[in-house]
Parts: sequence; structure tokens; C-alpha cells
Amino acid sequence: MNTQINPSSSDMTKNYPLRVPQAVMVASRCELTDLPLNILEGKLPDDLQGYVFIVAPTGSVDSGGLPYPDGTPIFNGDGMIYRINFNAKQEAKITTRIAKTPCYYADEATKKGSEYEKYGFKNHGLTRFSIALGVRNQLNTAFVKFKTSEDTNDRLLVTYDAGRPYEIDTETLELVTPVGANAEWRPEVSLSMPFGPVLTTAHPFFDAETQEMFTVNYGRSIGNFMQTIPFIYEAEKLPHVIKKIIEAIAGFLNILKIIKFLLNWVTKIIWEVYKWISSLFENVLKIKMQNFVYLIRWNGSGNFERWKLVLPNRSPVVIHQSLHQIAVTRNYVILMDTAFGLGIAETFNNPLPNIKQTENFLRDILSRPLSPDSYVYIVRRDQLIGGQQSAYSKQEVEVVAKKVVIPLEAFHFAADYDDSNGKITLHIGHICAADAGEWLRVFDSLADSAETPVPARLYGMLSGEADISRLGRYVIDVESGQVVESNVISDDKLTWGMALNTYCDILPSGKPAEKIENIYWNSDGFWPELLTTFIFNLYRNYKYREVSNEDLLKLLDRQEGKPACLLRLDTQEMKIADAFVFMPEVEADNTAQGYMINSPQFVPRAGGNGDSTDGYIICTIYFKNSSEIWIFDAKNLADGPVCKLGHPELRFGFTLHTAWLPKIAKRTADYNVPVEEDYKDLVAKKTPEIQELFEKEIYPHFKSKNP
Ligand SMILES: [Fe+2]
Repeated sequence: MNTQINPSSSDMTKNYPLRVPQAVMVASRCELTDLPLNILEGKLPDDLQGYVFIVAPTGSVDSGGLPYPDGTPIFNGDGMIYRINFNAKQEAKITTRIAKTPCYYADEATKKGSEYEKYGFKNHGLTRFSIALGVRNQLNTAFVKFKTSEDTNDRLLVTYDAGRPYEIDTETLELVTPVGANAEWRPEVSLSMPFGPVLTTAHPFFDAETQEMFTVNYGRSIGNFMQTIPFIYEAEKLPHVIKKIIEAIAGFLNILKIIKFLLNWVTKIIWEVYKWISSLFENVLKIKMQNFVYLIRWNGSGNFERWKLVLPNRSPVVIHQSLHQIAVTRNYVILMDTAFGLGIAETFNNPLPNIKQTENFLRDILSRPLSPDSYVYIVRRDQLIGGQQSAYSKQEVEVVAKKVVIPLEAFHFAADYDDSNGKITLHIGHICAADAGEWLRVFDSLADSAETPVPARLYGMLSGEADISRLGRYVIDVESGQVVESNVISDDKLTWGMALNTYCDILPSGKPAEKIENIYWNSDGFWPELLTTFIFNLYRNYKYREVSNEDLLKLLDRQEGKPACLLRLDTQEMKIADAFVFMPEVEADNTAQGYMINSPQFVPRAGGNGDSTDGYIICTIYFKNSSEIWIFDAKNLADGPVCKLGHPELRFGFTLHTAWLPKIAKRTADYNVPVEEDYKDLVAKKTPEIQELFEKEIYPHFKSKNP
């Protein structure tokens, strides 16, 4: 075990304002093919093998990449799939492709200057939306690798929280088919739009032992959806002078915000009135939004089976935030209401994207701190019998989920496959006092000075956290619903902004690892440039605060950050056994230029023994204007990367999740949802011109794939 953690970060940024690397804001939409990467430092390990897949949002058809000039969040963008080939000895080659869904082609065909411009999509916060066509499925978040006994090769899904997953051909990187027909998914709200809002998890789970894929489909009954949709509809037609009046009113209402902070009860009244108006819209317009959560099982070739989740008292399971991640053990499926506000309500709280005063006001009255607790729902797999085939049957089948509450919120977690004696073990990264759905907006100010605007170069970047993160290991006794073991740690130098994890999940035998003995996490660090007054105030009274507001303000006053980190958590000892701290570099202008890390992926060593540290960690790194791929020995993070790769054409922006495949191959699986058949009923309800748009601009792209 490596106990030498590289130099302490405690003093490294004191007295030097820490700067966010610009590279994280910049992404190219240029598709590359087998581009050899330059070895910038070190040597490619001989026993590094296979293909690493990374996905990242990469702007829209209008923006030409990132950054957005108008402060749109960088997470609103088409998914760019990156595939790095490590099988060519002494050389790593990269191929990239944009995930081109039917709605991507609709977006392309309706962009400014096109024949169908009036149906065009616009950015509304995290969502890209067209009032005539619906919501973009951007497929920019994660992957799921899977292989059933009928498959000759590994298959790969690319995913998104607010849209169906798609299977890609691992050789060409082209989208082949959605998983599940439109008729099998229930949108959050039924609208007469071809691209309906579908909420799911960005992390479906494939059980390699039983060869079953699990995912979810859910919706939330939030009245504010209906307040914003008619508003958007009308806003699209508003003459300029009316927009100016709205802007002036919103500006006045922004002044009222000051009063709001002094008089908390004003907010409560506004919120109640707001809910009442929203429910009125729901009733008048006869559009229902209901709470529902379906657990879906798919065998990789047939139709979905799904079960509606209810609590023991038969009331529906209610998701308040999102189901960003789920996990599966031998006998249970685990859902968590994750710390990421997602859905129609959140994504449409920016109905007038060109009027910042309105956006400022609406964010202020609509935003609530996320729950400081994690709500976990556990479903017994042996209950999952005879589920509803939603393509054919309206008869719902209910199963009971057990609810367990774990203190501290979370965005990502993993579970041991082993659940002997009815005990589930969860490994959770708690990112505290933060919201992955919030970003730096053009009207934001820095938390330590309401007079100081956030840097314009970071408009659209993910907002920072307002407390230190923690790492937790929990054992839950499912029968009693009690957390019977709880072990939570934090480290002031290493655990700020816990982000993504990776671990050795599949053994050389192809079976899942029984226990996660070692789990690798990257932490984002703490960046004074990214903590806004808005987030600081939102979490001022955070329930589980470890670093006081006063100490946080002292850090901010000094512009002192906490560096990013890559660490290995020994889950048995519950201690950080190895870590690399990305120390900033002080420049001649006395600023500390920081490093960011993202997208860690464990790659087992060729010829290795299947040990949970016997491999490499591949990750994306940002420093100033440079975007690089670094390779660490998974047994020895502290010594730093063994190899650094880069290329002037490689501009990947803020990358998210990853996958590793030992080899790629032309897809041979038969499963296929033909695009034209999938959309024809939805499109038939639209105007002849929109029907023509689909005939001319969308279906032809899929004809060869769906003959
Ligand atoms: Fe995720």
C-alpha cells in the first residue's frame, strides 16, 4: 500500500489568487479520426490496453463549440464521444464523433438561416428546447458497457439524464438505435411534441452475472412547469417593446430580492402564490404532471419490462430531485434521489433566455437548497416478476420499495455486488452544499464580495461548493431498513468537490467483483472564482456544515483555493491510501494557475491478476489553455502520471463519464428501433411542414441503419 501522499497542499495557494484553467471552458466540435496523440511526457506503458471512451458536452449547432458567448451552461450541449485506442503499441490514437440523434438532425435543419428556422431550438438553462419540436436529447453524460450471452462483442450505450439512452457502434462511433421505443417511455409531461421530455438515469446498470440491464423512467408533479411553458410560448411571439417592459419589471423585482433576504417570509408567500398559480394552469389546461417512478429491466434484445415503485403504504415513490445514478447488487436494485435538480421545472426556469433580468429574478424565487439528506429506495429483485410491457399494455404492475435515509447528499455512489445476509454496502461520494445543476451566470457575483462580478471568461461553468465533501461507506440492513454501519471521512487537503469515481468492476472472468475494495475518486478542489454569492447564500444554513461560513469567507478573502486531487480510497480501512494533488503553479503575475482533473477511468493491466489496483487510471487534465490525457499507475498515484498525452486539435472541454472496452468491433446485435416507425405517430399530429421536415431532414440519416 502506498502511504506516501505527494506534497501537502496546505500552503501552496496562500497569497496567490487561484485561477481556473481556461481549457475547461473550451471544446471543439471538429470530429477527429485516428489522430495520433503526442506524448508530452513519460512513456506509454507496454501493458496499457484497450479503448477508453470519454463523453463531453460540446456546444450546439449554433455555437460552433464552447464556450458559449451568452453564458449558457457548458453542460447544455451535444455529446462528443472520444475514443482513445491504446492497443497500438507505443502510440495512442483518438477518434471523436458527435452523438447524432434524430433531434440533433432536427436542430441542425432548423438552425438560423435554414428553411425551417421558425421551429428552431433555443437554450433554456440546462435544456435546449423548441416549442414546436420538443426537448433535445443531448447524450453527453455517461456510458454503459454490456454483453449478453447472445452477443459476440461488447456493446455500449451513451446516456443522458433527460433522454433515452442510445446504443453506439463501437467501431464507427455512430448511433445505432435508442434503447426502448418512444411508446415504451413515459414523458414527464405529455405534450404534442415529437421529442418529449423523458427523465431517466444517466447511469443504467448492467448486471454481468444475470445479464440484465436496469434503468428508470420517472416524472415529478411540479406545478411550476405549467407556469413556464405558456410563458415560453407567448414569449416567442412577444414584440421587442413588450420584452423591454418585462425586463424593466424584472429589474424592479430584482431590487425586491434585497428585501427577500431580510424578510424570509416574503419568499414563502411568493412560493405559495406561485404554486397556486401553477396548479391553476394545470387544471385549466388539462395537462397532468404526476409523480411516477418505473424500474425498467431490459435483456438487450426485447421489449422493456417495467414496475411502478410504491412505498409499503402503496403511495407512489416520489423523486424530488433526480435519479442520476442507480446501483444493483445480487438481490436488490438501489435508487437514490441525487443532489442534482433536474427536470422540466428546473430546466425551464429560464423562459426568456435573452432577458437576463428575468432569469436572475426567476432563479432567485424558484431555487431551493437541495436536500442535505440522501433518500435511498431499495427494491428486491425477486419481486420483479411479470412486469408491464409498456409498448403493449396499460396495466401497471407495482412493486414495493423500501425507503432509507442517509445523512448527507450525494451525486455519485456505488454498491458492492455482494449483499450476503440482506446487508447492502454503499460507497458514496458526498458533494456537500452544492448543486450540479447550477452554473455561473452573467449577473452573478463572487461570494466574498457582492460587488465583484464573476469572471466573464467563466460564464456557464459549474458553480462551486460551499462546504468540504466527504466519503462514506454504509452498510444497510434491508429487512429493518436501518443503516447498521456508517463510516464517513473528510480531509481538508484532499476531499473538496468529490466528483466522479472509477473502480475495477468486472473481473477477468467477466463476472462482477463481489466487493469494491478500492475506489478511485477525483475531487474538483475549491475555487474561489466559482463560488457565487447565490450559492453561498443558498447554503448558508447547511445542516451538516463542517467548514464554517466564517472559515469559508476567510479562504475567499485570500482567494485561497484547494487543489484538485486524484485519490484511492481503501474501503475496508476507510482511509485515503494513495493520492496525487494537482499543485497549482505560481506565475510571474503572482497568480496560482490551477489544474483540473476529470473523467477517471480504471483500465486493468494487460496480463494482470484482476486485483483492484492492478491497472492504470486514465483521466482528462486541464491547465491554463491546455487539455491533456494523463495516465497514472493505479498502484501509485502519488508519484504522478507515468505518461501525458495531448494534441493541439484535442479540445474536449468539461468531460464527464467514461468506459473501457478491451476491444471494439462492428456491431452485430439485432436489436433495433426503426426511427421512422418510432416517430410516425408523434409526427402525424404535427403540421404538414413539420412532417416534411422529418421526411427530408431526419429519416434519411437513419435509412441505412434501419432498413
Ligand atoms: Fe454521473
